[in-house]
Amino acid sequence: MTLVLETNDLTVHHKTPRGPLRAVDGISIQVEAGETLGLVGESGCGKSTLARCVVGISKPTSGTIMLGDLEIKDGSRHRFQRARSVQMVFQDPSGALNPRLTVERLIEEPLKVHGLGKKAERKARVAELAAQVGLSDYHLARHPHELSGGQRQRVSIARALALEPGLLVCDEAVSALDVSVQAQVLNLFVDLQKRLNVAYLFISHDLSVVRYISHRIAVMYLGRIVEVGPAEEVWNRRNHPYTRALIDAIPDEAVRRDDIALLDGDVPSPVNPPSGCTFRTRCPYARERCAAEVPVLRDRGNRLQVACHFADEIEAANTVVETVRSGQARSDVPAHLRAAAH
Ligand SMILES: Nc1ncnc2c1ncn2[C@@H]1O[C@H](COP(=O)(O)OP(=O)(O)OP(=O)(O)O)[C@@H](O)[C@H]1O
Ligand code: SF4
Ligand SMILES: [Mg+2]
Repeated sequence: MTLVLETNDLTVHHKTPRGPLRAVDGISIQVEAGETLGLVGESGCGKSTLARCVVGISKPTSGTIMLGDLEIKDGSRHRFQRARSVQMVFQDPSGALNPRLTVERLIEEPLKVHGLGKKAERKARVAELAAQVGLSDYHLARHPHELSGGQRQRVSIARALALEPGLLVCDEAVSALDVSVQAQVLNLFVDLQKRLNVAYLFISHDLSVVRYISHRIAVMYLGRIVEVGPAEEVWNRRNHPYTRALIDAIPDEAVRRDDIALLDGDVPSPVNPPSGCTFRTRCPYARERCAAEVPVLRDRGNRLQVACHFADEIEAANTVVETVRSGQARSDVPAHLRAAAH
């Protein structure tokens, strides 16, 4: 197994007038070469903060990051090496693209900055990258404002792939696109992974999108991973009450279930999180032990790990529903995107 990313006990605490805000609070994740780890959780749970640390935009407060064999200690010293290991694709491509440059120049830029190839070689490489993301010569001569949102995101992806990184961090990379375009860009990511063996840390608040694209899923709540495992294990077993609530919040899933567990209340402040299990203020299964003891990730079989004191009990209660669901086929793309495409 070759790892392209490993974080160990990573924390990011922001200074605020009310005290340190624990945006990322002890996260250990691994991403293998060629796989997609989906990262899902509500707004403010720390997904982007984690992403920014991995690509070097933000510095961790403590913990380590390994990018393949490269251990990141001081972000600035490794900037060039790091850029060849990991690149980021953002939600809004417009902000990342210089409006004065043509698409051709934009895709060439990382090659130039890293001194790769002579002019003619770079031109050929730009044409190859453009073709890989579904852009033509016509698009290469345009400026970003002349393209659609989906085409602009394709330009960002081509730029991100230019240095052949082993890992792309995609932070809400399809969330700002029209739903019909989301499905196309998701399929582009799948296709590129098959061809280039690139790994993705794929971040989204939309669990159905994450399920479609990911081999494994990590569920994040208030700066911590509460569940991680193979996508279908996470989805079918719904072992952590938070995961279960996220699945139940998907309209298409809710109609198939008669024991819906929707989320009550707001996410607590990461400046002053609840003691013990931070999900306890919204958890229908919470009891005394949950306030006293922090649950750690424990193996649940089939590579699934869950941080809940009562995971056994909760999974047993889910099994009854599971027998009813087991005949369902997996869809090609999430239902809400599929419907919009027609
Ligand atoms: N520079 C900063 N200073 C103080 N607090 C910050 C800073 N950046 C982020 N935060 C806080 O850190 C927490 C995590 O934010 P982050 O943007 O990582 O969440 P997210 O999961 O990406 O949310 P979203 O789904 O809305 O993008 C939030 O409470 C946010 O308000
Ligand atoms: S540890 Fe307790 S509060 Fe936390 S998810 Fe499990 S049952 Fe709910
Ligand atoms: Mg974010």
